[in-house]
Amino acid sequence: MIRKLALAAAFAMGTATAAAAAGGEGHVVDFDFSFEGPFGTFDQMQLQRGLQVYSEICSNCHGLQYVPIRTLADPGGPELPEEQVREYPDFMGWEVFDEDLDDFRPAVETDHFPGSALENAPDLSLMAKSRAGFHGPYGLGLNQLFRGMGGPEYIASLLTGYTGEEKEEAGAILYENTAFPGGWIAMSPPLWGDDVFYEDGTEATIEQQSLDVAAFLMWAAEPKMMARQRAGLTGVIFLAVLTVLLYLTNKRLWAPVKHRAKGEPAE
Ligand code: HEC
Repeated sequence: MIRKLALAAAFAMGTATAAAAAGGEGHVVDFDFSFEGPFGTFDQMQLQRGLQVYSEICSNCHGLQYVPIRTLADPGGPELPEEQVREYPDFMGWEVFDEDLDDFRPAVETDHFPGSALENAPDLSLMAKSRAGFHGPYGLGLNQLFRGMGGPEYIASLLTGYTGEEKEEAGAILYENTAFPGGWIAMSPPLWGDDVFYEDGTEATIEQQSLDVAAFLMWAAEPKMMARQRAGLTGVIFLAVLTVLLYLTNKRLWAPVKHRAKGEPAE
């Protein structure tokens, strides 16, 4: 039985290594994000810059159809002023199909972001979570656990991972990318540096814009991450305090019995 199990395990590991050797897995860089770790929080200015990169560049192809526009004003997110949130869909020129009107009308802040404009460009609403992947030896997710590597790192690595090589395959142009599984992606390099102008004076390098949009997409996929981390931490502290109290209570309760066992008079 044990030998069988060991064989199966060896076989599974063997196939995993073979897949990695075949260039299946891309290279993900361990970028640092402000929201990593139990005390991490989203950097509001970074989320605003990321929103800008998404709006000016990525939204030409990619949608964010599960994200309500009004959440841009929510605490813990980009926290745009209400006024700007109201103007945003109009500024972007977005329209939605209204079933009541049976016609298109301009989008308002209570609508969601639109879906993808380009058919083969995936929606990015949940991308930061769906590409969290299982990084580390044998895809066990150890890097995620110990180094916080996940979806945002993958997205930033993807955007900074172009080598400049292209090839044509079945009529489509593919671009070499060190982070994309398989090494060749159909998305042309979207960032070249200075693609947007940051009002806050941050230099818009390829890496900076990639990190900003990756952080924004993490927020889009998990806007309540901070609240969840906070709740988890509160839970751990609560349990720790409870453990100490119970330990002391237990000692106190059994103290007379212990004394008696040693032949000392009970208190
Ligand atoms: C010109 C259109 C276009 C633009 C602009 C564009 N993308 Fe893409 N993107 C694509 C296409 C097409 C794919 C699908 C590629 C494939 O599957 O080979 C894709 C795929 C992706 C993926 C998924 C990769 C995966 O693991 O499957 C991510 C993440 C992504 N894009 C992020 C972005 C971000 C962030 C921006 C803005 C900085 C952006 N894209 C701008 C067309 C675009």
